[in-house]
Amino acid sequence: MSDRPGFTAIDGTLACDGQPIPRIAAATGTPVYIYAGGVIRARFAALAAAFAGVPHALHYALKANSNLAILRLLRSLGASADANSGGEIEVALRAGFIPEQIVFTGVGKTREELERAVSLGVKAINAESAGELARIDEIARRLGTRARVALRVNPDIDAESHPHITTGTRRSKFGVPLDEALALCRACAGRPGLELVGLHAHIGSQILSLDPLRRTARVVAGLARDVLAAGIALEHLDVGGGLGIAYDGGAEPDPADYARAVIEETRATGLALLVEPGRTLLAPAGALVASVVDVKPGPDGRRFVVLDAGMTELIRPALYGAFHRIVPVAPRPGAELVRCDVVGPVCEASDTLGLDRPLPDPQPGNLVAILDAGAYGAVMASTYNRRPMAPEVLVDRGEWRLVRRRQSIEDLVACEL
Ligand code: LLP
Repeated sequence: MSDRPGFTAIDGTLACDGQPIPRIAAATGTPVYIYAGGVIRARFAALAAAFAGVPHALHYALKANSNLAILRLLRSLGASADANSGGEIEVALRAGFIPEQIVFTGVGKTREELERAVSLGVKAINAESAGELARIDEIARRLGTRARVALRVNPDIDAESHPHITTGTRRSKFGVPLDEALALCRACAGRPGLELVGLHAHIGSQILSLDPLRRTARVVAGLARDVLAAGIALEHLDVGGGLGIAYDGGAEPDPADYARAVIEETRATGLALLVEPGRTLLAPAGALVASVVDVKPGPDGRRFVVLDAGMTELIRPALYGAFHRIVPVAPRPGAELVRCDVVGPVCEASDTLGLDRPLPDPQPGNLVAILDAGAYGAVMASTYNRRPMAPEVLVDRGEWRLVRRRQSIEDLVACEL
């Protein structure tokens, strides 16, 4: 069973923050994403407490999970927002964030997106290149305003994570090389449409070792000292997100240790600290609950357990070979553990959720929960094979409610002419 806080058993049956999952699934159908509000509250509080000693803002990275109900909950807890597209800016606004709480990141911001961000007056546009700085300047002058920008630097630090989610090495497309950063900061002073307010770096995601995160903070702080020494004012340092979680249920980095490392490296600059956490707040707060559709013999004495959820609902295993624990929802007294290849219904050989997993003799109709699916789950879902998007449920303060209904076939074809 699961020992994830928020997803533990009551009388042997898996519950989410005390609400039995079979009851929720019976009402919503499966597959369904279920989020534990209590876990989001606890993890946000822990991170906020860890940074409490310095002026800071936690800009929740919407890309991890941008359901409006989740955003409203995080906003009520004191979060700010990190948006990675025009769409995420609009969703953040709808959730009640004000422009002054939003930083806008992204390697390919279009003119339309930049115009929107500049005219809203977001807290900072994290600029990715000299060309983008020039475009922002031009747009701001045309609009008769000054755009607040932070320069994203590429510190050339390996996050020691999966190559697909490593963003801070020289070979990755993100940010400007460190040795060009000071000159670009100077150049901002000569552009009347730009107000340089910060420096930014983000080296990747699912980072389990604090060392690369500490070194990134050190590099950004070092650059800040040079920028300040050149007489250029700054307001903040944005050290990005990236803190990983233990998908295998083992030990994970402590937010207090993480904050201490970042603060130690940056405190001397006297600048406010911005952090862009996504996964660490949301991943452990969500499970994808699915039904077993079929069981049949598989390779090497294993069984294929076919679910009604697959790569369309959780693409991480197919895309990154990611591991997610899969646990039965209801007890099956006396059932022996059998080795299972847990797969989805999609016509792709990569549509697997977990290979060679011991499960108690699964039968069609049984429910399983795929843990740690709260981040990069629903947001990365697709409708491949014309599979409607699954609903989302938020359990909070002893009640559960649907926060996104299941897509209908009508929804699926609604944009087609
Ligand atoms: N800030 C920036 C600029 C980012 O690019 C990201 C994530 C974050 C913050 C939040 O990082 P986090 O704290 O969640 O690690 N789909 C992948 C993860 C992609 C992360 C992309 N950027 C996955 O499922 O593992």
